Amino acid sequence: MAEVSLTSVSKTYPDGTHAVRDLDLDIADGEFLVLVGPSGCGKSTALRMVAGLEAISSGELRIGGRHVNNVAARDRDVAMVFQSYALYPHLSVRDNIGFGLQLRKVRKAEINQRVEAVAHTLGLFEHLDRKPRNLSGGQRQRVAMGRAIVRNPQAFLMDEPLSNLDAKLRVQMRAEISRLQRELGVTTLYVTHDQVEAMTLGDRVAVIKKGVLQQVAAPQELYEHPVNLFVAGFIGSPAMNLVQGTIESGDGDAAHHLRLGSQRIPLPDSVLARTPGLRAAVGTAVAVGIRPEDMEDASVADAEPGPTLGSTAELVEALGAELLVHFVLDAADVVTEDTKELARDVGQELTEGEETATTPMIARFSPRSPVQEGASVRVRFDPERLYFFDLATGEAFDSADRTPTQMRGDA
Ligand SMILES: Nc1ncnc2c1ncn2[C@@H]1O[C@H](COP(=O)(O)OP(=O)(O)OP(=O)(O)O)[C@@H](O)[C@H]1O
Ligand SMILES: [Mg+2]
Repeated sequence: MAEVSLTSVSKTYPDGTHAVRDLDLDIADGEFLVLVGPSGCGKSTALRMVAGLEAISSGELRIGGRHVNNVAARDRDVAMVFQSYALYPHLSVRDNIGFGLQLRKVRKAEINQRVEAVAHTLGLFEHLDRKPRNLSGGQRQRVAMGRAIVRNPQAFLMDEPLSNLDAKLRVQMRAEISRLQRELGVTTLYVTHDQVEAMTLGDRVAVIKKGVLQQVAAPQELYEHPVNLFVAGFIGSPAMNLVQGTIESGDGDAAHHLRLGSQRIPLPDSVLARTPGLRAAVGTAVAVGIRPEDMEDASVADAEPGPTLGSTAELVEALGAELLVHFVLDAADVVTEDTKELARDVGQELTEGEETATTPMIARFSPRSPVQEGASVRVRFDPERLYFFDLATGEAFDSADRTPTQMRGDA
C-alpha cells in the first residue's frame, strides 16, 4: 500500500490536445479517491498516466514516495481494472486471476493458494474452472477485480469498471467494491462519469472539467460547498436549479430581498452574514442555486414556514417516495462557461448572450403533496439553503455554513 501523488501533472497528446492540465492530487495511503467529470474531461488520461500506460508530458508522479515518471507500467506495482474487463477468453477463471502471478514466476502452489483465497472473497470459488463466456456480467467483473486483488498491489486503478453492467447489478457491485476496498485498505483511484457512483464510493471526490481540477473534497463537502457553478451543477441528481436573481436592499420587514423575475422574497440577514461576499453584489444579478430537495409544496401540512414562489406545475413525476415537480420561473437562466459545459454533457447546447427569459425548475415534493399537473402551485423553500454564484466568474460566494435541511427529515 502506498500514497499516490501527482504534482502539476499535464498531458498533451501528439495532436496538440491538452487532455490534463497541471493536475495536483494527493491520494493518501488506503484512501479511495474518485475522479469524476463529463466525457472527454481527461479522467482516463490521468489514470493511464498513473498506470504507466500513457507518458506524462510534464509534472511529477510519485507512488509510495518513489518518483515513477519513467518507471515502466509493470514495475509500478499498481493494478488496473478496465471497463471492458479485458479477460482472456480461452483461459479459465483460475488462470485469468492467476495470470499476473504466473508472469512473475510465482510458485504454482502459492498461485493456487492466493487465487483460491481471492475467489472465496469474491464468491467465485465454484466458478474457478469456467471460461469467461460462461459467466454473468457481474461475475466477469469480479474476475477482473480478482486479477487486480491477487497481485497485492500498492494501488488499484479503476476506469469505469461498472459501466458495462445493468443498473441493478451496478448498485450491487458498487457496494461490493466499496466493501472490498475497505477490507483490503488498498489506495484506490477510481474513474467514473457517474456522480452517484462518485459520491457513494469516494472518501474524497475530485471533479474535473476540460482537463482542469475544479475541486477535491469529501462527498458531502462537495455537495454543501461547491466552489463554482460547474461543481454545483454536476454533483446532485436531479441537478441543482440555477436561475438569475438580484439581491435588493430592503424596505419594510426585511433588510434585503431576493428578486427572481416578477417575484420577490425576503432574505434573512443570516444569509448575508454567512455569505459575506454577497453584500458587494447587492443590486447586481447573481446566479442563485436551489437544490430540488430544498423545496416543498407549501400546502403540505408539516412544511416548515418560509417564503414561497408561485408557479404552475407543468409536469409531475410520481416516483413513489417523492414527486418531481417541474415548473417555470419568469427569471433569466444562467449561461456561463460552466453551465454551457454542463449542458453539453447532457446533449444540449446553450449560447452565451442568449439567456432565456424563463427558467425551468425541478422540485422534489413529498408524496403527500396534492399538486396537480397544470394547476398552480406554491413552492416553499428555505432561504438558508440557497447557493449564490458570481455570474461573471462562476465562483461561489463564500459561504461559511449551510445548515442541513430540515425540510425532508422524513425522507
Ligand atoms: N490518443 C489520443 N490522442 C489525442 N487525443 C486524445 C487521445 N486520447 C484521448 N484524447 C483526447 O483527450 C481528451 C481526454 O480524453 P479521456 O479519454 O482522458 O477522457 P475521459 O474523461 O476519460 O472521457 P470518457 O468519460 O468519455 O471516458 C479528449 O478530448 C480526448 O478526445
Ligand atoms: Mg475515459
